[in-house]
Amino acid sequence: MSQEKKFQLSKNELNVQFDNIDKIKSIYEKKYKDKTLLAHVHSYGCQQNVSDGEKIKGMLALMGYGFCDSPDEADLVIYNTCAVRENAEDRVFGNVGALKHKKRRNPDMLIGLCGCMTQQEHIAEKIKKSYPHVDFVFGTHALPKLPEIMYDAIKQNKRIFDINEYDDEIVEGIPIQRDQTFKAWLPIMYGCNNFCTYCIVPYVRGRERSRTSAEIVKEFKGLVAQGYKEITLLGQNVNSYGKGLEEDINFSQLLRMLNEVKGDFRIRFMSSHPKDATKELIDAIADCDKVCKHFHLPVQCGSDRILQLMNRHYTIESYMELIDYARKKVPDIAFTSDIIVGFPQEKYEDFKQTVELVKKVRFDSIFSFIYSKRVGTKAAEMEDPISVEEKSNWFQELLETQRSIGKERYKECVGKTYRILVEGEGKTGAEYLTGRNDGYMIVDFKGEQNLIGQFVNVKITQALNWALLGEIVE
Ligand code: SAH
Ligand code: SF4
Ligand code: F3S
Repeated sequence: MSQEKKFQLSKNELNVQFDNIDKIKSIYEKKYKDKTLLAHVHSYGCQQNVSDGEKIKGMLALMGYGFCDSPDEADLVIYNTCAVRENAEDRVFGNVGALKHKKRRNPDMLIGLCGCMTQQEHIAEKIKKSYPHVDFVFGTHALPKLPEIMYDAIKQNKRIFDINEYDDEIVEGIPIQRDQTFKAWLPIMYGCNNFCTYCIVPYVRGRERSRTSAEIVKEFKGLVAQGYKEITLLGQNVNSYGKGLEEDINFSQLLRMLNEVKGDFRIRFMSSHPKDATKELIDAIADCDKVCKHFHLPVQCGSDRILQLMNRHYTIESYMELIDYARKKVPDIAFTSDIIVGFPQEKYEDFKQTVELVKKVRFDSIFSFIYSKRVGTKAAEMEDPISVEEKSNWFQELLETQRSIGKERYKECVGKTYRILVEGEGKTGAEYLTGRNDGYMIVDFKGEQNLIGQFVNVKITQALNWALLGEIVE
């Protein structure tokens, strides 16, 4: 999306950046003495972005920053942005606009923007022109260069923009400050090659590249040793993992490898693309006791005609074949999905096929979105005659359909016992805790706070609209 020319990251990139971290630290020590500066880092969008945010925090922590939850007390604000839909971008512009007054009160405050949104040239231009209080902007490719970018901005007291597309080498070893102590994100690959015609991700995240299995296993074992109970493998298309690596490995083999690691934990992964989801993968899910019996398999639409226009490379028949195979092999497997409503050229007949598919598969839950036009994608060129009002009506119809299926799915769980990772306080009321089962369903139950971060067995007693209720059993 930005310059055609590719830029090189230095072979020695990490050391260069550690030098910059030291330089910033010594500037701050002189200027602020013993005061701990606070940073507010907020990541929008998907888990990949959240994971990038943890690397940003890792680098900032080494510079001496502490962290705060609100921009109000912050000496540094970084918004790590998402570009997947227009409303995600609008929200960021609104929040960045609001920082103007805060900076007036605290002129030393630094403001940085990064992530998928800023990787687009027209957005970087807009920030340059209309948001002069933003001090530095960098794209997804320049993430490892954050210390250098910040040092230049501080030292030269000028605005720095770096949205170059650096080469696709993965920089390993960036420090990570994780948000949680028992659940961890572990990226296994970056970027996407699929170019679904509606989607901005391949333009802003670059080409698909996988980490070596050795690096993944090393990080994974480290997490298990630190006591992490749930590790989620991340990628825009995790099941195409391994392509382009020198070693001969695919995603199913990686899952089997990680399942061998000793310890009490579970493994999740997301997202999978149906075109790369194989029976071999289902077999691996079935065989690996630590892999959650949950498959997030975004179908996007129930009409073959639209799937083709979306460049998705599968049919509803092949999708159903996979679901049927999985349900035979892993009887209690849970399916969730992403669905786009109102893709250009989509007619009500196409949409009806989506509703039919949802009824047929009976997903546990779906994440549905009204199509949002993204500059630079192929779908943005297609004629899109259906009004937003009509698309909203379709969207409501889909929500209603899924709501009643979800309700039935929840009712089927009453009387069953699940292993739950306790995540925090529940919404049901005081004394309640909440967690998720293997299949990603929310379960609330009464229990002591010290169970947070542990596994417990919970017998389901009641199905609410948004969660299951249960009680702890031995
Ligand atoms: N790589 C993942 C996630 C992509 S973004 C995958 O392929 O599953 C998450 C979801 O956002 C997508 O699955 C899709 O349903 C939705 N999405 C992407 N682009 C969109 C757009 N332009 N308008 C509306 N929804 C979109
Ligand atoms: Fe976007 Fe498709 Fe890639 Fe997912 S697989 S990130 S929807 S282009
Ligand atoms: Fe958004 Fe970028 Fe993720 S566009 S969904 S943050 S990959």
